[in-house]
Amino acid sequence: MSKPLGEYLKEEKEAEEAAARPPPSAHATSPEIDSPGSDPSMKLSDFTADDDSVSFGLQRLKEIAEAAEKKKKAEKNKKKKEKKKMKKLQAEKDVGSSKTEGATPSDEDDSTKSEEGSGTCEKSESAELAKKDPLSPEKCTGTSATPPSTGKAKKSVKLKLQRPDEAPKQTTSLLMSYQSMRSPELSALIVESSKESSAAMVEEAWERLKKSYVYYRGKPVGTLAAMDPTAEALNYNQVFVRDFVPTGLACLMKNPAEPEIVKNFLLKTLHLQGREKMVDNFTLGEGVLPASFKVSNDSDRAKETIVADFGGSAIGRVAPVDSGFWWIILLWSYNRCTRDHALVELPAVQNGMKLILNLCLSDGFDTFPTLLCADGCSMIDRRMGIYGYPIEIQALFYFALRCAMQLLKPERGGKEFLERIDKRIIALSFHIQKYYWLDFTHLNNIYRYKTEEYSHTAVNKFNVMPESIPDWVFDFMPLRGGYLIGNVSPARMDFRWFLVGNCIAILSCLATPDQAIAIMDLIEERWEDLIGEMPLKIAYPALEGHEWRTITGYDPKNTRWSYHNGGSWPTLLWLLAAASIKTGRPQIAKRAIELAEQRLSKDGWPEYYDGKTGRYIGKQARRYQTWSISGYLIAKKMIENPSNLLLVSLEEDKKIAKPRLARSATV
Ligand code: GLC
Repeated sequence: MSKPLGEYLKEEKEAEEAAARPPPSAHATSPEIDSPGSDPSMKLSDFTADDDSVSFGLQRLKEIAEAAEKKKKAEKNKKKKEKKKMKKLQAEKDVGSSKTEGATPSDEDDSTKSEEGSGTCEKSESAELAKKDPLSPEKCTGTSATPPSTGKAKKSVKLKLQRPDEAPKQTTSLLMSYQSMRSPELSALIVESSKESSAAMVEEAWERLKKSYVYYRGKPVGTLAAMDPTAEALNYNQVFVRDFVPTGLACLMKNPAEPEIVKNFLLKTLHLQGREKMVDNFTLGEGVLPASFKVSNDSDRAKETIVADFGGSAIGRVAPVDSGFWWIILLWSYNRCTRDHALVELPAVQNGMKLILNLCLSDGFDTFPTLLCADGCSMIDRRMGIYGYPIEIQALFYFALRCAMQLLKPERGGKEFLERIDKRIIALSFHIQKYYWLDFTHLNNIYRYKTEEYSHTAVNKFNVMPESIPDWVFDFMPLRGGYLIGNVSPARMDFRWFLVGNCIAILSCLATPDQAIAIMDLIEERWEDLIGEMPLKIAYPALEGHEWRTITGYDPKNTRWSYHNGGSWPTLLWLLAAASIKTGRPQIAKRAIELAEQRLSKDGWPEYYDGKTGRYIGKQARRYQTWSISGYLIAKKMIENPSNLLLVSLEEDKKIAKPRLARSATV
């Protein structure tokens, strides 16, 4: 009997950990963009080392498989010999009525069956179940089919039966390695064919991306959110600022880079910022950037016009707080890639940045350095209980502040902004690192919190009631790992996991190096929950029942394990890839990319997937969603050439760490 896959994976992981890191390789001097010399804290050798450890891991897996194969053959021979001996004995004794002890014919049959290939034995049974219930998961290990939204995901790796239409998209996943390890030739063939299909997928993705370009006066200025001919366009025929970020990055990471569309996009959206923005009779802040814009053709007047949405048409009428931050971050990436300082130094660009920052840095009644937001003000643009101080916005705010520090010129009031930014990033990083961080120890502390404490000596500063800790978090929290929770405000900690905030915190160094590593540990420890069958869960866990009713307001689009409420979004692949490369663990990104490659193109690049493990194409998901395409492309680009990470990642600022220590002494 062969070993369970879980054991192979464990051994493979142990082998990876034991592997010695090879010296820095050619990646470290990649000519594609800046030499890492300008970024002393970036250790590109780490990436290459772990790259090697991945192939080392596969090699080790193969070795284990071969050893298992040998052992099995030897056992089989032994059995055969024993059987012969028994037969001989039987004949000699001439006992016709009684059967020999040991292997009965049926036992023998069973053992041959299981030797012939794991998974086949229960295939018919499971296929039968699947036939009865189209939503039943085709699991090899289970005897009963469970619906996607119930039951806790088992931590053991299950062998998944292949759906007939999945067959051509084989990948080099560990699962595949296991299935094919009986024959090294077969294994090599699969690796080869997966390389080919992945190359074809990349080619298709670039083609589709190109088709989604939106032109204004003959120049590309952005990309459509989706190009699904079978679904109602709604606002998916617009250029979304946040959606364009992975597309812009793809154009910058391309070899050679195609920065023109990024520049046009930055300038066009800046131009839109200058418009007067009103919702009913209320005028929005000058710095607000649109959530999206649309180029309309007035054929009668042979004129193109741009209509922008600043939240006035959006569902819920909320302005996109994230747009301005993404705009500054993309400007920084553009500048880093092209060294086109002329664009950054344009007075209009400098002014645009100041207007965005002014919205967030102005004095008010705040006692926290975090930014107070309405529900639905970011990628999660419907009511999902993220109002208050959501981690996604705080992390983007921090990232944008740090980018602005590098982009702002001291002239024309810039110096004053730089001083304000400096103070804010110190306070913000202190606040997030201290109050948003949750690991096993912190959870235990909160669980034992005293309440109703008064004065600056209070430990439970926000008066959080331990009874408000949801049950699921005690099971979810591994001994190894941790994460930044969703929200912190008076008497309220939203313990949900949000991927964007955590990955952005890693890329911007808002998370400390130890926290960054712990976040990646958590992703590995909770792989089934956070990645499942299709990367990646936008939030975990889903709101269900009473919570869903009260928090989402009965939102039929955000039912449990769907859309923003625990749905899986392929576009997030790039954030995971970047974070895992930055923390020196590209194998995490590779594993997730391989999973996505099994279905993404075949399913038509959906916007999101539904279900606890992300198995089902989202109920209302658009197909040919542009940021699903570009998210995949840049994840691939960064894995291929880890120096591409430098376009989306900041190095640690040692200055920020100092005051943090001084202040923590008073807590
Ligand atoms: C949905 C998403 C939003 C995205 C938009 C366009 O509204 O929630 O994050 O920007 O679609 O793709």
